[in-house]
Amino acid sequence: MNELVLVLDFGGQYKELIARTVRNLSVYSLIKPGNISPEEIKKLNPKGIILTGGPDSVYLPDSPKCTPELFSLGIPILGICYGMQLMCHVLGGKVESGGKGEYGTTQVTIDEQLTMDNVQLTIGVQHFLALMSHRDCVTAPPKGFTVTMRTKNSIAAIENNAAKLYGVQFHPESAHTENGIELIRRFLYDICGTRGDYKMNDYIENETKRIREKVGKKNVLLALSGGVDSSVCAALLSKAVPEQLTCIFVDHGFMRIGEGDEIEQIFSKRSLRFIRVNSAARFLEKLKGVTEPEAKRKIIGEEFIRVFEEEAAKLGNMDFLAQGTIYPDIVESGGGNAAVIKSHHNVGGLPENLNFCGIIEPLAGLFKDEVRTIGRKLGLPLKLVTRQPFPGPGLAIRVMGEVSAKKLNILRQADAIMRQELDKLRPDRRPEQYFAVLTDTLTVGVKGDDRTYEPVIALRAVNTSDFMTCEYSRISHKILSAISYRITSEIPSVCRVVYDVTNKPPATVEWE
Ligand code: XMP
Repeated sequence: MNELVLVLDFGGQYKELIARTVRNLSVYSLIKPGNISPEEIKKLNPKGIILTGGPDSVYLPDSPKCTPELFSLGIPILGICYGMQLMCHVLGGKVESGGKGEYGTTQVTIDEQLTMDNVQLTIGVQHFLALMSHRDCVTAPPKGFTVTMRTKNSIAAIENNAAKLYGVQFHPESAHTENGIELIRRFLYDICGTRGDYKMNDYIENETKRIREKVGKKNVLLALSGGVDSSVCAALLSKAVPEQLTCIFVDHGFMRIGEGDEIEQIFSKRSLRFIRVNSAARFLEKLKGVTEPEAKRKIIGEEFIRVFEEEAAKLGNMDFLAQGTIYPDIVESGGGNAAVIKSHHNVGGLPENLNFCGIIEPLAGLFKDEVRTIGRKLGLPLKLVTRQPFPGPGLAIRVMGEVSAKKLNILRQADAIMRQELDKLRPDRRPEQYFAVLTDTLTVGVKGDDRTYEPVIALRAVNTSDFMTCEYSRISHKILSAISYRITSEIPSVCRVVYDVTNKPPATVEWE
C-alpha cells in the first residue's frame, strides 16, 4: 500500500494539478470531495491533506464546507487559497469579503519579524513571485497561527506548527509561482514525513489488475482515435485483456492531411483487432447548419457513440466501451465543482442511453505528461507518445461556424503548412501545440490585380506543460512570415493570416 495524501476539492480548477504535482513528487494522491467525513478520512489513513482553492466565498450559504473535525484529526493540512480561508473561518480567524482581491503574479515576502529558519513552508528566498487569484482575504489568523508571508495588500501565508496546520493564499501548484513545487515538496516530506514510495509502474500494475477484475471474461470495444490518450489506453488494455479487446477507429472526416491512413498503418501492424470505419459524410450531414461550438461538440460526441454502438452490434458480444479520457477532460467539462468551460468530446458528448454495460477509462486520473510516461513504459513508439494533442472533434472545432467539405479542405492545407514549418525546429524548441484555425471572418485583399474577399486564417501556437494554462509561443517573425507567405500563395482562397497572441486563461487553447 502506498502512502497517501488526500486532495480535498472545494471547486478549484487546479485540484488535479495539485494531485499530479504530489504524484510527480513520488507520493500517491487521491482527490475527494471537501465534505468527506472524518470516518472516511481515518479509513484512508492519509499522511497529509491539501485543501484546494475554489471560486466561492466562505460566507455564501451554499459554498463548499468541510467538517470542523478535519482540523483536529492530527493530520498535517495545507490549505490553498479558498482552502486557507475556509481553515481560518472554521478555526475562528477573520476572513473579509468585498475587497479588490489580488489577481496574477504578485510579490510575496516572508514576514520581516521571522527568520526563514522558523518558517516551515519556506522556499529558501525572502521574496518571490506567486500566482494569486482571490477576492476574499484573511485579515486575522486563528489563535495559535503565525502570519509568515505577506503581499503588499494581504496575508499570504499562515502556519501553526504545533497543530501542523498551514495555509497559503497563493497557488504553489501553478507554474507561475516561483519555487511553488519546492513548497509542496517541503509540506510532503518535511511536514507530513512521506518517504516517496509512489512510482508510475504502480499505476500500470494497479490499473491492469483493476481492468482485469472489472472486465472478467467480457469483451471491450475501444474508441481509438490515434491520439496519445486513446493509443496509450489501447496499449494498457492490450496488456490487461489482449484477447478481449477490439479497437475501432472512426474516421469522422475531421482529421488532418493523411492522418487516417497513418493511424491505420500504425495500429494494423500491432497485435490487436483494428477496424476502421469511414463515416465522413455522415458527420458532415449531422453538422449542417450548426454553428454553436457546444452544439458541434455534443453532436460529434453523440454521433461517435452511435457509430460505435452500430459497430458493436455488428461484432456482437461487446460489453464495455473503453475511452482514452484523461483528467483535464473531466475537470474542464465541469466534473466535481468546477465551472463548465467546454464539453470535451469524450465526456460531455456522451449520450445517456448507452448500449454498453459499462465504460472503462483507465487514464481518467492522469494528466497528459503522465499519460506520455505510461505510453513510453508500455513500449509505444516515441513519435506516437510525443504527438501534440488533437481534439476529439478534430478540425470541426477549428473551422469557425458551419463546417463544410470546402472549408475543411482549406484548413487542412493551412494546418499542414503551419506544422511543416514549425516541425523544422528542433523538437525541444517546438511549442507544445500548434495549428491553424479557419475563421468565419472575410476580409478584403488583393491578389494579382484583383480584389478578393476571403476568409482569414488564424495561427495558434502555445507553450504549456499541462494544457490547463498556457502562454502563446513567441514564434520568430521569420517563421511566421514563411507560414503566412506559403498559406497565401499555396491556398488560392486565403489572402490574410493572423497570429493569436492570447494566453489561457483568459482564452482556451482551441478557439471553440
Ligand atoms: P482547451 O481548448 O480546452 O484545450 O484549452 C486544452 C487541450 O485539450 C485539447 N482539447 C480536446 N481534447 N477532446 C480532446 O480529446 C476535446 O474535445 C478537446 N477539446 C480541446 C486541446 O487541443 C488542448 O490540447
